[in-house]
Amino acid sequence: MKVPFFDLSPQFQLVGDEVKSALDEVFKSQQFILGKKVELLEQAIAQYCQTPYAIGVASGSDALLLSLMALGIGPGDEVLIPPFTFFATAGAVSRVGATPVFVDIDPTTYNIDPSQIEKKITPRTKAIIPVHLFGQCVDMDPLLKIGTERRLFVIEDAAQALGAEYKPHHSKGRRAGEIGDLGCFSFYPTKNLGAFGDAGMVVTNDPQLAEKIRLLRAHGSKPKYYHKWIGINSRLDTLQAAILLVKFKYLETWTLERQRRAERYSLLFDDLLPSVPGLQLPTIQYENRHIFNQYVVRVPERDRLRKFLTEAGIGTDIYYPLPLHLQECYGFLKHKQGDFPVSERAAQETLALPIYPELTEEQQTLVVDRIRAFYKR
Ligand SMILES: Cc1ncc(COP(=O)(O)O)c(C=O)c1O
Repeated sequence: MKVPFFDLSPQFQLVGDEVKSALDEVFKSQQFILGKKVELLEQAIAQYCQTPYAIGVASGSDALLLSLMALGIGPGDEVLIPPFTFFATAGAVSRVGATPVFVDIDPTTYNIDPSQIEKKITPRTKAIIPVHLFGQCVDMDPLLKIGTERRLFVIEDAAQALGAEYKPHHSKGRRAGEIGDLGCFSFYPTKNLGAFGDAGMVVTNDPQLAEKIRLLRAHGSKPKYYHKWIGINSRLDTLQAAILLVKFKYLETWTLERQRRAERYSLLFDDLLPSVPGLQLPTIQYENRHIFNQYVVRVPERDRLRKFLTEAGIGTDIYYPLPLHLQECYGFLKHKQGDFPVSERAAQETLALPIYPELTEEQQTLVVDRIRAFYKR
């Protein structure tokens, strides 16, 4: 038996017919840019995120870019981000001409460590981008407090966290994306809600920001050919919206199935935990609603274990092997190894195991059995 790291084919078997007829509707309508399907998806996502506004855009990367543009962030400004995230978080900051300033992460959640934010704030700092990595919210209360006190915008990079909740059992429990000024989502195919290509969304509680992003995604024009802002072309494709609307109906079930598989991994790992020094399973803070876009473990012998699993037919992945401060393109920031030790260690020790709604019990048992075999050698 093989265990692929990720496999979308069973999902396609489930939704394929519905998707094909939804696409057929778009073909018949011949409306390929924005229109009803995009509006319906925006409404569905806004409601799901408990925000009044959602704006469909071309990708999660553009959601971040448009958010920074809407807030007027540009050359001379600094934006605080974690170095342990997908490149798009930093890329968007650089694309608007601002400078990414890194803040190290928490070693258990791999999310930005709010206690290290203050010391990175300068008179140029304009915003913080907390990334809800792997599907769990950043510890937002201390971060929002700093944001409010220091007058910084908060843009949530919720690309991996649609449906995640921060402190759901507290009176102030909130959904990913609606906590900061703007929340950015990705519908990249591997996400809990994945398109058949690229797509993204920005959500907000602020009507003015919503309107500005709506204009910016279409070259800043209103009415057509009259340009209030210099925007870009970044609309959510109508065909992708049609697909996402079909898949959205299954999102909650799929997320519950992912959470079940995460629980099952915890049980399967139970006996291994005490005998493998340094093994760390995903840690859920404050009983957060973690949507398990990824199930990431920490193992000191990560590369050797990964090779062993690959040879045993078990797919894994590494998110992310090189933190952003050490990327070649950020050489001009003059960072060096050791600047962000927690991120650097995470990049060396973390391994993403297969997690998707259709992953079977037998497959999960095999994954953990093989890991057990690795440590027994
Ligand atoms: C944390 C994070 N930010 C941003 C993005 C960018 O999203 P997209 O791939 O839709 O451009 C991703 C996508 O993988 C991501 O994981």
